[in-house]
Amino acid sequence: MLELSRADLHGSLGDPVMGSMTFLTEIMRRYPDAISFAPGAPHVGFLDDLDLPRCIDSYLDYLQHERGMDAQGARRLLYEYGPGKGLINDLVARALRADLGIDVPPESVVITVGAQEAMLIVLRALYRSASDLLAVISPCFVGITGVARLLGIGIVPIQENSGGIDFGQLENACAVARARGERIRALYVAADFSNPSGTSLDLPARHRLLDMAAEQDLLLLEDNAYAFTAPADGALPSLKALDRDRRVIHLGTFAKLCLPGARVGFAVADQRVRVHHEPERLLADELAMVKTMVTVNTSPVCQAIVAGMLLQQNGSINALAAPRSEFYRDNLARLLAALARLEDVPSRIKWNRPTGGFFVRMYLPRPADLALLEISASEHGVVWTPMAPFHLDGGGANELRLSCSYLDPEEITAGVRRLGAFLRQVC
Ligand SMILES: Cc1ncc(COP(=O)(O)O)c(C=O)c1O
Repeated sequence: MLELSRADLHGSLGDPVMGSMTFLTEIMRRYPDAISFAPGAPHVGFLDDLDLPRCIDSYLDYLQHERGMDAQGARRLLYEYGPGKGLINDLVARALRADLGIDVPPESVVITVGAQEAMLIVLRALYRSASDLLAVISPCFVGITGVARLLGIGIVPIQENSGGIDFGQLENACAVARARGERIRALYVAADFSNPSGTSLDLPARHRLLDMAAEQDLLLLEDNAYAFTAPADGALPSLKALDRDRRVIHLGTFAKLCLPGARVGFAVADQRVRVHHEPERLLADELAMVKTMVTVNTSPVCQAIVAGMLLQQNGSINALAAPRSEFYRDNLARLLAALARLEDVPSRIKWNRPTGGFFVRMYLPRPADLALLEISASEHGVVWTPMAPFHLDGGGANELRLSCSYLDPEEITAGVRRLGAFLRQVC
């Protein structure tokens, strides 16, 4: 019988990043009673009572009453193949303008199969040759580094520091690339509550990053997945909202905000693209062209569900986000308070204190590896995520990530008690 060799398959498949999450899923399956701080998924309490047919009806009503379609035409829009750029771009653009201060026309929005697909099509469109590199802030979300590996794009890690980005290192990396005849084409950055660190950029850092992008001729790929968890009075403008030069490609998702199973995200790409002898195009047009060769179009039914959820909140992302954001902030506060109450754990164990997002980053005085995770799960009934796979420079061996999003509040308190017992034993 034919047997294939991994060595004959694409090199990315052997990359540790690609398989890093499989072990976690496996350990959660083997220890079903463990309390897991691993999943960065939304809390199921927000999903149990969703009435999906009602969401679809809300969108069908909108098509008829605001877009002037007849009932059959509206239904067909959902049942058939759809435009590669998307169906609900008008609603997304309207919400981005009203809620996030991102003022772009619907034509510059591409609706994607989650933010994950947006990352794939953006990188595919932007990266021309092997000398185009992607800078990321390390530790970094494995979704973007995984896509870069799939596409054979060289990654340049820039260290995260207490201000979010080591700007000196970024500037230096651009100069080094130029000296070698390469260029850093784009920097992937989550300005609000990054995954895995929970780190954010303050307002001066956002301005400085935009200035540096202009100086170094970089594009910024802004991942906005967790920005909705910011307190209403503490939310900072996104990079895209501050962008005056069209340097920023904004990546959004409805997965964390409302419904991961719908797999709906989007890219905002209002950059102009010159094509000889042709009318001017937008980068969004190019992305849509790539997308049609990946998934043809994002499921119109799934787009309708998300649009219906938005319409039920008067089209407002902020209104949709409000109760969820409050729940996640309460969970995060509970996690941080429970950690602060831990007694008799060695003082060399440290953690950060984000003000939003799903994640806390913890530092141990010993490697937080898969062997230690096995002890944690089997002997103490608590699971977490080792951070090493998020680091691109071999660092992070002693770090772990705690996520607060998926657990009930009481589980968080109980889980930290178990974590305390585990840390007392092993550190
Ligand atoms: C930072 C970040 N961006 C994007 C995503 C993926 O979003 P989607 O489910 O829309 O593909 C995740 C999911 O974990 C994430 O943590």
